[in-house]
Amino acid sequence: MPPEAKTVAVSKTVMSRTMLPSDANPYGNVHGGEVMKLIDAVAGAAATRHARARVVTARIDELSFLAPVYVGHLVTAKASVNHVGRTSMEVGVRVEAEDMLTGTVVHVASAYLVFVATDEGGRPVPLPPLVAETDDERRRMKAAEKRRSLRLHRPRTS
Ligand SMILES: CC(C)(COP(=O)(O)OP(=O)(O)OC[C@H]1O[C@@H](n2cnc3c(N)ncnc32)[C@H](O)[C@@H]1OP(=O)(O)O)[C@@H](O)C(=O)NCCC(=O)NCCS
Repeated sequence: MPPEAKTVAVSKTVMSRTMLPSDANPYGNVHGGEVMKLIDAVAGAAATRHARARVVTARIDELSFLAPVYVGHLVTAKASVNHVGRTSMEVGVRVEAEDMLTGTVVHVASAYLVFVATDEGGRPVPLPPLVAETDDERRRMKAAEKRRSLRLHRPRTS
C-alpha cells in the first residue's frame, strides 16, 4: 500500500544555536561550515519527519551566504519540505542571525537540499506524497518541481 500523504506543516523544523568563539575565525566571523552543518541538520530532521524513515543527503545546491554571522549571534534555521518525488524530496532552509543584544534579525543564508529515503541497506524507498495547503507552500512546490526537472537533466557530479 502506498504511504499516506502528509502536509508540509507536520514536518516543518526549526533549530537555533548561539555561535561561540570555537565556531569562528580569530576576528569573530563564523565559519560558513558551521552554518552549513546547521542547515544539513535542520533539513535532515524535516526530511526524516516527513519520511519517518532513514534519509541521506543526496545533494546540496543553491546555498547562498547573504550576510556575515558573528560570535554571540543566535542563529536560527527553518526547514520545510518543498517537494516530494518518488523516493527523494527537496527541503528548503532559511537561516537568520539575531544580535541578541539589539534584537536585530538578518537573513544570512538560504539553501535547497535533496534527501533520499532509504531502507537499512541504503536502498531508496517510496515516500509519502506531500500536500501543500497554503499559497506559499503551493508556490514553493511549483518552484521546486522546476528545480527537480533541471537537476534530472544535469549530470549528478555537476
Ligand atoms: C542518494 C542515494 C541513496 C541514491 O541512490 P541511487 O541508487 O542513485 O538511487 P536512484 O538512482 O534510484 O535515485 C533515487 C532518487 O534519488 C534522486 N537522486 C539520486 N541522486 C541524486 C542527486 N545527486 N541529486 C538529486 N537527486 C538525486 C533520484 O532522482 C531519485 O529520485 P525519485 O525517486 O524521487 O525520482 C545514493 O547515491 C547514496 O547513498 N549516496 C550517498 C549519500 C550520503 O551518504 N550522504 C551523506 C554524505 S556525507
